[in-house]
Amino acid sequence: MAQAPAFSFAPWMAAALARVEHALQDWVVAPQLAALAPDLPRAMRYAVLDGGKRLRPLLVLAAHEACAAQGGVSGPGAEAALRAACAVELIHAYSLVHDDMPCMDNDVLRRGKPTVHVEFGQATALLAGDALQALAFELLTPAGGGIDPVIQARLCAQLARSAGHGGMAGGQAIDLAHVGRSLKRAELQRMHELKTGALLQGSVVMGALCGAADAQAAAGLTAYGAAIGLAFQVVDDVLDVTADSATLGKTAGKDAYANKPTYVSTMGLKASQRYAQTLLSQAEKALRDSGLRETHALQALARMVVERAH
Ligand code: IPE
Ligand code: IPE
Ligand code: MG
Ligand code: MG
Ligand code: MG
Repeated sequence: MAQAPAFSFAPWMAAALARVEHALQDWVVAPQLAALAPDLPRAMRYAVLDGGKRLRPLLVLAAHEACAAQGGVSGPGAEAALRAACAVELIHAYSLVHDDMPCMDNDVLRRGKPTVHVEFGQATALLAGDALQALAFELLTPAGGGIDPVIQARLCAQLARSAGHGGMAGGQAIDLAHVGRSLKRAELQRMHELKTGALLQGSVVMGALCGAADAQAAAGLTAYGAAIGLAFQVVDDVLDVTADSATLGKTAGKDAYANKPTYVSTMGLKASQRYAQTLLSQAEKALRDSGLRETHALQALARMVVERAH
């Protein structure tokens, strides 16, 4: 029997990124506004295109492919997975636009460019975030028969839960409520699981939904998503201290400056770095427990979350 070719992450990632960039270019448009309010579509595209690691879309696509390779859905599921990948990125981009505004973190640099409110003003930044959030759900509910309506509904429900009060927005509220205050370790973990972990975990779960994961695979991927979701924000806290602004494409040192409770302020730098490695091991174990065989991309993405330089 012919052996399957060895998996190589770099070409997989290049191909996946190209699909996502192309789809975002096509889908993030609002031509009906061009004459009367050109800044809104311009701000939306500015926020989404030309920057970002696209980690969440990569997770959607990798989780879908792992499940599809196991005998789940590949053809129609692939269209759903690409839409889900872009939808999650739109929610993420909106969260960054609002996170950077003066009423939240008051940042002027994002993805190596001036933040949206610096470039377009606060009202347009607010609206661009709102419109990106709505567009995410439009992408998941295309007219015509492209995606099974049951899958559409499940994807919308998952994305809403990951983004809303029990997910990203709720975590951001905890973050803002604790400026200048310390948090107990368990409370800090909860904040990070919500503000960042929920959308990363949601990305993995949405990919699994598109690939018709069985119960064992769904449980394994859910646990994997929880581990890398938390790890991602632990590493974000670490990089805020160890990296420079040019590398990050956003202002370094902001957490200490703004007096935010983080893993570094709570546990120290070395213990935070060790904890990120522990979470990586938990993610790898969850993948083994999933019963899925084609998890190379998911393994590589977990390492990328923990070992990234920006
Ligand atoms: C930054 O996310 C915001 C956090 C959730 C910590 P990313 O580091 O994924 O940002 P981009 O998408 O690559 O710009
Ligand atoms: C933001 O966390 C998480 C979001 C939901 C956007 P941070 O405030 O630490 O993200 P950065 O460091 O500005 O990217
Ligand atoms: Mg913030
Ligand atoms: Mg911030
Ligand atoms: Mg940060």
